[in-house]
Amino acid sequence: MTLRKSLVAALAALTPFVATSAIAASLTVGFSQIGSESGWRAAETSVSKSEAQKRNITLKIADAQQKQENQIKAIRSFVAQGVDAIFLAPVVATGWDAVLNEAKDAKIPVILLDRDIETANKSLYLTAVTSDSVHEGVVAGEWLAKNVGSKPCNVVELQGTVGASVATNRKKGFDEAIAKYSNIKMIRSQTGDFTRAKGKEVTESFLKAENGGKNICALYAHNDDMAVGAIQAIKEAGLKPGKDILVVSIDAVPDIFKAFMSGEANATVELTPNMAGPAFDALIAFKEKGTVPPKWIQTDSKLYTPTDDPQKIYDSKKGLGY
Ligand code: AHR
Repeated sequence: MTLRKSLVAALAALTPFVATSAIAASLTVGFSQIGSESGWRAAETSVSKSEAQKRNITLKIADAQQKQENQIKAIRSFVAQGVDAIFLAPVVATGWDAVLNEAKDAKIPVILLDRDIETANKSLYLTAVTSDSVHEGVVAGEWLAKNVGSKPCNVVELQGTVGASVATNRKKGFDEAIAKYSNIKMIRSQTGDFTRAKGKEVTESFLKAENGGKNICALYAHNDDMAVGAIQAIKEAGLKPGKDILVVSIDAVPDIFKAFMSGEANATVELTPNMAGPAFDALIAFKEKGTVPPKWIQTDSKLYTPTDDPQKIYDSKKGLGY
């Protein structure tokens, strides 16, 4: 083997396998992204760009600023531009049939990223790359049950965006899990829109209504950003988050690992920001060989607690665009 060839072989062994091809390099994908409500969302946008780059795919991102009407406009614009595929992170679950029929008529495959839609016509999208968000809620609820044991525990909940599949499902899963434990009671539940600011504001109102927080044993937030806002509110109320009030949430963003390190948060369920990578691979196989992907490409939901080397995880995540 020549020196050049062995260098190429060594580099190939170091580089993680990424499906790339002449077809990939000719693809233009339009991505209707929700906005930038959370650290997780920022990372998803950033990872989507780098996954497109790895495969030489042209990615056009439209930021909908949390509005379904903007997403519908963006999809229509992608159809008019004749893109090769559309990625959609649907802000809410309902109301997509008409616009997705337009994409279908134009023979443009649609792939759902990170959230689901409600439709009777599953042929409106090629596949959905999402986690099992009911399971995420179950994991959070089971963690809480295990950690409070038989002690009575009043829980307050910060829900995600109203009408979003992940908010509905994370609530459902958590409610199902704690229903098995008569000592755990959900006493307040309200949307915090997946943002830090709203998470803090709603938690302040929960604390006021619940004897300055003394009636609350745990806070469950549908994402880490709301949990970080809640932690601030709990501290300002003179209580210790992570001790006086347990904090469990979802996403595994770097800031929650910082909160683990200072003892202010107790558990998180990871949602990978890499939804686009598996979506690109499914799309390439579909375009190249006509391979129809499964209707659901499920991503992992791993539980992390402060015993999982938070510094190491923080370091591994902080460059990902969170
Ligand atoms: O749809 C995924 C959710 O959207 C994330 O958990 C949350 O942080 C984001 O805003």
